[in-house]
Amino acid sequence: MATLFQWRTDECESDLRGDEVQRRLARWNHERLQPRLPDEDWRDALAEEQRMLDLQGRFLTSLRSDVRDEARQAPRDPGAFIAWFEALEATGPGQHDPLFDWLAEAADLPQMRWFLTQEAAGEAGFDDLTAYTQVKLPARIKLELARNYWDEMGRGNAKGMHGPMLARLVEALGLEPTIENTVSESLALANAMTAMATRRDYAWHALGALGAIELTAPRRSAAVAAGLKRLGVSAKDRLYFDLHAVLDVKHSAAWNAEAILPAVTEDPARAQAIAEGALIRLQCGARCFERYRRELW
Ligand SMILES: [Fe+2]
Ligand SMILES: [Fe+2]
Repeated sequence: MATLFQWRTDECESDLRGDEVQRRLARWNHERLQPRLPDEDWRDALAEEQRMLDLQGRFLTSLRSDVRDEARQAPRDPGAFIAWFEALEATGPGQHDPLFDWLAEAADLPQMRWFLTQEAAGEAGFDDLTAYTQVKLPARIKLELARNYWDEMGRGNAKGMHGPMLARLVEALGLEPTIENTVSESLALANAMTAMATRRDYAWHALGALGAIELTAPRRSAAVAAGLKRLGVSAKDRLYFDLHAVLDVKHSAAWNAEAILPAVTEDPARAQAIAEGALIRLQCGARCFERYRRELW
């Protein structure tokens, strides 16, 4: 049994972001989030869980160290914090990356298919990340996450559910997203989001990271929707991107007013965590866009 605990703890920063670690984390997230029957060998499973949580913890620590100084500059006054947070749309890492104008105006179908295959790699969708994050949050914040979640669920209508809506596009384009054909930057983004949402000590980080998605998704979604339309993809198949280009503007305003503002008002110490989460999300995104441009241009 002792050998189970002899794992490597000496990866350097670049190893933690590299293919091997990110694939391991992605495969682990894929398995552990699946509903299943009780593990017969649950003590062995615990040992593996400890090893992977250790790796996840070191990955998160490394992401935090990149953004901590900038997050410390964020104001603690609730109103001023919201202004700082909203300014990330214009000035945050990876914002207004030239990749998206190119996707809208110039990418051919194989290039668009490659981009979407990378983007479809996330293990948990926004719905599940929100569900994990809302556990034991104060009532007002929990209600906002519930309203957002209900939209993710198509307000009770299967055809309006966002996850299956994206799956329809993946199917229509014949994409086959797998961990093996996804670049490490994209896996890192999904692994970071899953880690923050599933760990309670990162709950406020998750609130900031999810808020950063709502804040920044509309512009990117509109560009992808325009590219898909230009390439002849039907309105039905590109609905996921058409919808998020509009709906997330509302989601973002509501998230900032009803989730982030009360969180910081109740305890200004959360401002730093929310800011770190948002910056981690945006930096992971920026690294993806840079890698995609290297692959596609
Ligand atoms: Fe959505
Ligand atoms: Fe949304």
